[in-house]
Amino acid sequence: MSELQKKIEQVVAVLTEAMHDYAPVALANSLGAEDMVLMDIIDRYKLDMEIFSLDTGRLPQETYDLMQAVRTRYSITLRIYFPNVKQIEEYVSQYGVNGFYDSVDLRKRCCHIRKVEPLRRALLGKRAWITGMRHEQAATRISLKQSAYDMDNRMHKFNPLLEWSHAEVWEYIKMYDVPYNKLHDHFYPSIGCAPCTRAVTPGEDIRAGRWWWETPETKECGLHVGKVIPIK
Ligand code: ADX
Ligand code: SF4
Repeated sequence: MSELQKKIEQVVAVLTEAMHDYAPVALANSLGAEDMVLMDIIDRYKLDMEIFSLDTGRLPQETYDLMQAVRTRYSITLRIYFPNVKQIEEYVSQYGVNGFYDSVDLRKRCCHIRKVEPLRRALLGKRAWITGMRHEQAATRISLKQSAYDMDNRMHKFNPLLEWSHAEVWEYIKMYDVPYNKLHDHFYPSIGCAPCTRAVTPGEDIRAGRWWWETPETKECGLHVGKVIPIK
């Protein structure tokens, strides 16, 4: 068995265990490369779980193109959650449509409205959620565990791709011809909202293009900042 196949089997084992112990479980799919690998594995192994995306309303065109491609390729429905209209309208009328550039606080408030609050709704009724985070992605992700109790969302959280390398993610994508975000071909290793993501230059950190005007310590959108209790 190849190294990659072994890793795929491990992911299936983690997902199966999560479904067995904590159903209903959901995958949070940002439509980045890692999450597309997980979606493909869930489809290929016919694992029964919801897959959702948080459409912030400010995603790049390439992400919407992929969302559409996913409908053609997979029989599983990608459920889309939108921000609360009233909250967005209030924010935009008070701070402007691009108010998030004005301060870290306003940027975090925008992320809260467009991502964190919809995530809470997406996770209602679930007992565990899955993400595509990897150790390699950021210094803040080195200490992550494959399985943890997420205090913020009061449920278990699994990171089955934690030990995958960038090369392994792309080996999988090429091997199974998984649809992927075309921005990855243009030096966007990490993709979020269009106004808050830029390409990186060779040698730059994977997440250097996210909220590039801020210092590394503030670069979190609020989806993964809560306290977690490691299990494995
Ligand atoms: S972020 O939290 O700073 O945006 P990143 O883009 O690396 O981090 O995503 C990490 C994980 O958070 C993804 O693998 C995915 O599980 C989840 N996630 C991030 N953005 C979204 C989104 N828009 N919709 C669904 N899940 C998301
Ligand atoms: Fe708002 Fe930017 Fe956060 Fe998207 S990444 S929710 S546009 S601040």
